[in-house]
This record gives sequence, structure tokens and C-alpha cells, in this order.
Amino acid sequence: MDPSVEAARVARPGAFRTAARLLALCMKGEIWPSTLGMVLMIAGSGLGLLQPWPLKFIVDALTIKGPPPGFIASTLRVISRALPIGNHKMGLIVLLCAALLLISLASAAVTVLSTWLLISSGLRMVFRLRCRVFEHIQRQPPAFHDATTVGDSLYRITWDTYSVQSLFNAGLVPAISSLVTLAGIAAVMVGQDWSIGVVALVIGGLLLILVQRLEKPTTNLSTRVHENESRVSTRVEQTLTGIRAVQAFGRENYEANRFAQQANESLKANLRLTLLQTAGQSGVAALFAGGTAVVIWMTARRVLHGELTPGDIVLMVGYTAMLFKPLETLSYTASSIQGAVAGAHRVFEILDRDPVIRNSPTARPLGAGVAGTIEFDQVSFGYRADQSALCQVKLMIPAGSSVAMVGPSGAGKTTMASLIMRFYDPVAGRILLDGRDLREITIESLRRHIAIVPQEPVLFDASIGENIAYSRPDATPEQLHAAARSAGAWDFISAMPRGFDTPIGERGVMLSGGQRQRISLARAFLKDAKIIVLDEPTTGLDAQTEADLLSALKRLMAGRTTIVIAHHLHTVRYMNQIIVLQQGRVIQSGTHEQLLARDGLYRHLYDLQSQPHRTTAEVS
Ligand SMILES: Nc1ncnc2c1ncn2[C@@H]1O[C@H](COP(=O)(O)OP(=O)(O)O)[C@@H](O)[C@H]1O
Ligand SMILES: [Mg+2]
Repeated sequence: MDPSVEAARVARPGAFRTAARLLALCMKGEIWPSTLGMVLMIAGSGLGLLQPWPLKFIVDALTIKGPPPGFIASTLRVISRALPIGNHKMGLIVLLCAALLLISLASAAVTVLSTWLLISSGLRMVFRLRCRVFEHIQRQPPAFHDATTVGDSLYRITWDTYSVQSLFNAGLVPAISSLVTLAGIAAVMVGQDWSIGVVALVIGGLLLILVQRLEKPTTNLSTRVHENESRVSTRVEQTLTGIRAVQAFGRENYEANRFAQQANESLKANLRLTLLQTAGQSGVAALFAGGTAVVIWMTARRVLHGELTPGDIVLMVGYTAMLFKPLETLSYTASSIQGAVAGAHRVFEILDRDPVIRNSPTARPLGAGVAGTIEFDQVSFGYRADQSALCQVKLMIPAGSSVAMVGPSGAGKTTMASLIMRFYDPVAGRILLDGRDLREITIESLRRHIAIVPQEPVLFDASIGENIAYSRPDATPEQLHAAARSAGAWDFISAMPRGFDTPIGERGVMLSGGQRQRISLARAFLKDAKIIVLDEPTTGLDAQTEADLLSALKRLMAGRTTIVIAHHLHTVRYMNQIIVLQQGRVIQSGTHEQLLARDGLYRHLYDLQSQPHRTTAEVS
């Protein structure tokens, strides 16, 4: 694990700060719809608070003799002039029923509108956050991707980004709406009878304390659920990407067991979380039932003493019942917010990563007139602090010349190519292009001038044409065809029923290794760059194709700086310079003839490869 990821995990900022930071990041552009949604939602809560009143007046009208309260009587008089609503009491009841209906309808309409506004805001926030995290992960240097599984990154981009929606739609919004509703209920109850109101509030307070107590274990468990789910995806991803090996070695049962083990961890964490949540909710419900009984008892006593009307029992019970919903919501929001914060931490672990490889403030782009001189000046590099892949490498590659790098596998050849692309920076020493330190050149312009054929072809699930044109999306069909011809890919492509439009499947599974290699080569040819780096380009090619390729390469090399990492030594004999690497050090250099004349690793390798019965695999 990368030390900075480890450090970020240890020093986690508070949940509140993380939540606020995530919302601040994603709220841009959503201020208006979400404010309007909130206002409507609060209006909806207000309408909801009116609901118990018509029923109270109906009960009072039925049980109390005498005229109704003044404002109801005057409303009734106005309406009875326009509508035939019968005698006094019946008319009053019709009016109150109509009010009940109207309040419900209005509250429903406002709720639909505000929910739409708020949910769509939340979803748009997820969309923006996803794009951002994807962008950021994509720009991380290979060192990050070496240390992070694809499954983990996948989970962060697709699922952890939903944390902003749960924070907003299941956390912030219901919290505000519940608090506003609670305040309204408290105001009305205390206004009717302060002692009953205070009792109801005390019960509410107890409920909140219970909720608070449940908060910490819930967060810990939901963090564990997140981590376990991420590991489940990682398992799937690793097994499926290596499915050929799994099947070839008959390791299905082993993989199934490993998967079941991981999925079981996730199940256990999930079950524990569910148990805690249901137990918590039941506790809340029990406390609430006790509270309602106390409120009914207190109100009934006041009614018996003639201090309150029978309708007030309906009112108080109605409000106590209404107390439950916002409190229950608050108990959910606590865990939603905690769950969301766990996701948010994982999102920020990505967003806070500063790509180690980036443009320095003084970096300038390469101009059009790149000559292509490359110099390694005492370059040392290691993938990890305790290991060295290159040690004080000194090498001069004049512009337009060709150099071959040979040596046993693991010697550091691919590493040198990666350093030229600036996938990594040297630990010590400098790499210079036309005399300028690579770190003083903008990364985009540097990579624009280098075409690389990696050791493993990297192909996408698209057509052959799209795969070749990946290096130059604006290429004309003629350029595309020419590149395919140079790379020796023309014949097999035109033999395919759909030619350049043939889809090749995920990572090019529908092609042979040699065909994939040639597509990868065509891509580099198409880029038409000043510097070409080929990492074992003839691996997987048959002798004829290899010969074709080498003659194509000779044409391509004209006027360009070419670096060929080669396995077969007969492919490198025409290179201007041959570098022999061993364990990260340059141990020999010179032309083919010079190196053959000396007793050393080169001649040893050459002799081994010249023996007809020895395969080259044994040499590396
Ligand atoms: N991404 C990586 N992370 C850690 N170590 C690596 C990585 N890539 C290569 N190495 C190590 O660096 C050394 C040089 O590897 P490499 O440059 O790929 O050798 P070559 O291309 O000559 O076969 C090897 O010891 C290899 O194990
Ligand atoms: Mg290699």
C-alpha cells in the first residue's frame, strides 16, 4: 500500500467536515433547484402541521354545545351565502371535511414537486462527482495503478460517488425537514398546553439520545460493509480478467471458495449492520408507544377537569403521532449520513491524491522542431524504496539514431522505456530530451512526440480501425491503411469479413497474439512521432512476419530516434548502438560487431540464440 494512502486512512477528518466538504464540492450549479425544493418542502411540512386541526374542530363541534370559535363561524357565514351547505352544525362539518381534503391534496402536490427538485439535484451531483473521480483516477501515474486494484477504483467511481446523493437526499434534506416539522409540532403542543408539550419534547429528547448512541457503531459497521463490498468486486474482477488461467489450471473451486469467503465477510458485516439498525428502530418504536400513552393520559385528565376540550385529545394524539415520523427519519438520517461519509472518505482519498507526475510550474511544451536526442544522465530508479530497478544508467542516444536494449528479463529494459515516457520520475539523475530535463517539459507535449509499442499490446473493446486510430483520432482512412500495411497487419485485416470495422472484443480477445501485436504496432506507426519506443515488438510474430516487420521498421526509423527493446538478437544487429543491461546496470555498449568481438554477456546470449536446438525462452 502506498504510504500516502495509508496516512490518509489514519488521519481521517471528522464526519461533519467531510460531509460539508463533499456538499460544497457538488452543490455548484444546484443552489437554485435545491433551495426551491427546500422551500417547497418546508411549506409542505407546514401544511402537514395543519392536518390535525379540522378533526379537532369536528370533535369539538359534536361534543360541545354552543357556537363554534369566532373565525370558523365567520368563514361558515361567508360560504353558506354562496353554497347550500345546510344547517349550522352539518355545514360546519362539511366545511371541515373539505378543509381536511384540501390540506392533504395541497400537501401532496407540494411534496411531489419538492421531491422531484431535490432528488434530481442529488442525482446530478452524483453525475458530476463521478466524472470528476473518473478524470482524476485516469490522470494518476502508473505507480498509483500498480498499487490499486481495478475493482477498487471501479467501486469508488460507480458506488462511492452515490455518497453525495445519500448525503443530500437521505441526510441533509430529511434532517432539515424533520427538524422544521419537530419545531412546528413543539410550538403547537406547548401553545395548547405547556406541560403536555414539555412531556412530549422530553420523550423526543430521549429518542434523540437513543439515536445518538446508535450512531458510532452504525458508522463503524457501514464502513466495514463498504470495504468488504469493494473486496468482493475486486475478487470478481481478478478472477474474470484471469479466467483463462483459472480454467486452464482447474482452479475454479479454489476461486469459488475464495469468492465465497470474501462474500461471506461482506454478508456478516451486513447482517450485523442490519441487526443493529432493526434493534435500534424497535427501541425507538417502544419508547414512542410509551410516550403516546402518557400524552393521552395527561390530556384526558385536563379534559375531565374542563381545562381542555375533547377535540384537544385528537389534536395532541395527532401531534404526538406526527412526532414519530421526523424522529424516525432523524434516526435514519444519522446512519445515512454516516454511511455516506464512509463513501465520501473513499472519494476524497482519490480526489486528494496529487498526481506525483505532473507539470512543474516552469515546464514548457516541446516546440515543433524536436530533434530527438535522448540522454540518461546517471539515472537511478526503483519501484519501491528498498529495491533498485536502474542504477546510475548513463546513455546517449543521438537524434535520429537507433538503439537496441538487450539483456535478461527483469534487467530494467521496460523500466527505461517507462522513464522516457515519464510514467515515473528517476529517483536520482536526469533524463534529457534535446538537452532539456524531461521534468521541464509539459507531459502532454512530451508524450505527443513519442510513440510507444508496449510489451503487452493494450487494445480496447472496439473495432480494429478505432483501435489503430487511438493514437491519432483525426487520421484519414488512407493514413490508417498505410499504418496497417507498414505494421504487416493489412493482410489479416482485409481477410476479415468486416475489415477495419471488425470488432475485436475485450482486450482484443478475438485476435491472436501476433495480430494484437501488429495492431499495436500500426497504432505507433500512425502516430508518426519523432521518437519511437518498441518494447519487444517481435514477440509472438512468426519468422516471416518478423522479417516483414523489420524491413518496415527500417523505413520507419529513417529520421527518427528509435529505441528497440529486443529479445531476438538478430533483430538488433543493424542498430547504431546496442546497450546490454543486467540488473539495472549498463554492462556493455557498442555496435553488434564490436560487442561480438568482446567476450561478455552479449556474445554469450548471441551464442545461445545461434544454437538451433535451444529456444530463446531458455535464454531470458
Ligand atoms: N510496476 C512495477 N512495480 C514494481 N516492480 C516492478 C514493476 N515493473 C517492473 N518491476 C521490477 O523492476 C525490475 C525491472 O523490470 P523490467 O524493466 O520490466 O525488466 P525487463 O523489461 O528488462 O524484463 C524487475 O525486477 C521487476 O520485477
Ligand atoms: Mg520488459
